[in-house]
Amino acid sequence: MPVFDLFLPCAGGSAPFLADEVARLTGQATDALHVGRTGVGLRGDWETVLRLNLHSRIAQRVLVRLWEGPYRHEDDLYAAASDVPWEAWFTPARTIKVEVTAQRSPLRSLNFAALRVKDAVCDRLRARCGARPSVDTAHPDVRLYAHLTTDRLTLSLDTSGEPLFKRGWRTDKGDAPLKETLAAAMIAATGWTGADANGEPVPLFDPCCGSGTLVIEAAQIALRQAPGRQRRFAFERLLPHDAARWAALREQARAHERPWPAGHPPLAYGSDVAFRMVDFARRNAERAGVGAAVEFRGGDALQRLPPTARPGVLLLNPPYGERIEAAGVAGGLGADVFYERLAAHWKTHFGGWTAWVLTPDRDLPRRLRLQASRRVPLFNGPIECRLLRFELQSRNGNSDS
Ligand SMILES: C[S@@+](CC[C@H](N)C(=O)[O-])C[C@H]1O[C@@H](n2cnc3c(N)ncnc32)[C@H](O)[C@@H]1O
Repeated sequence: MPVFDLFLPCAGGSAPFLADEVARLTGQATDALHVGRTGVGLRGDWETVLRLNLHSRIAQRVLVRLWEGPYRHEDDLYAAASDVPWEAWFTPARTIKVEVTAQRSPLRSLNFAALRVKDAVCDRLRARCGARPSVDTAHPDVRLYAHLTTDRLTLSLDTSGEPLFKRGWRTDKGDAPLKETLAAAMIAATGWTGADANGEPVPLFDPCCGSGTLVIEAAQIALRQAPGRQRRFAFERLLPHDAARWAALREQARAHERPWPAGHPPLAYGSDVAFRMVDFARRNAERAGVGAAVEFRGGDALQRLPPTARPGVLLLNPPYGERIEAAGVAGGLGADVFYERLAAHWKTHFGGWTAWVLTPDRDLPRRLRLQASRRVPLFNGPIECRLLRFELQSRNGNSDS
């Protein structure tokens, strides 16, 4: 079976968590992986491509690297792209799109660079197959990536299609939803798996849950549901696709799922001051197939009591900035007042819980008057954030979660 160079891009800061995930999914040692700032590279066969697409929660997509080498001008891009056996990957009946990404490339126009790559692909297919593919920039069957650094070009084929954060269940969303891939990286950073070392359930609670992304991702992890179980992938339209093997892999994933036992209390909880969001979150959870394992309720984070007697993990990206201001009883009073009251509420009612808060606000520990015991840098799109951990002391002075 041929082995390919694979690259899985991810959000800034997520690569170490993605590397752990890839190691677990492929059985490769973490040292055998190339862990960079923007993603993880590995060697893998076609089955690995399918497995990573189906199971990776943190990767944005799975790319097969088909050419790598030096370039100086646009003609070099044409020559490189003419060299790749595209006819082994797709037929001229497929529509294509060439995406160019660049870091300090000396080329003047990335659009022109994309055009040269596209011309080479079309010319090669016309010469080999007698016809050329059409371009579809909105919904292409096949996406090709050209990545340019100062002097090196990488050409890759995307096997995912729609980015992997599109799981297929979040059709209802609020103003500032987290990408599912970032939510998964946050959960990985906390180490939460749904149970402690003795197999006892550890609850997770997001008191500013919006459309429910963190809670639903967490429930899917606990129920061992593959994140790609409800979506289609670009590899299904590529020539190496083997429908029987893919069906078997999906079946294997389904068989591994754990149904939530009837009558058991939920494992992951969310609440939001906006009832519209709670409605969205409930609908999303049903679509994701985790309705029985989660509970969403309306309520102000400054007033909601812990959803379980047993302490667990608070995980949230609270409102910040002008776009998403805190609402509820402290609405309009400013961030200092909201966070001071949130900390007071947590200290009184959430002793023994561990709170993890994603924020771009470097001042948050001061506002909360709490000392962060860990700071994990993570990018939320272009926004540099920190995932901060706060141990909330229980009334007897211990932090026992
Ligand atoms: C940044 S968004 C969270 C997005 C969410 N993680 C998602 O993926 O959809 C912040 C959320 O906090 C909610 N919110 C604002 N003030 C609140 C309060 N006092 N109590 C609870 N939720 C609040 C907003 O309605 C909004 O949904």
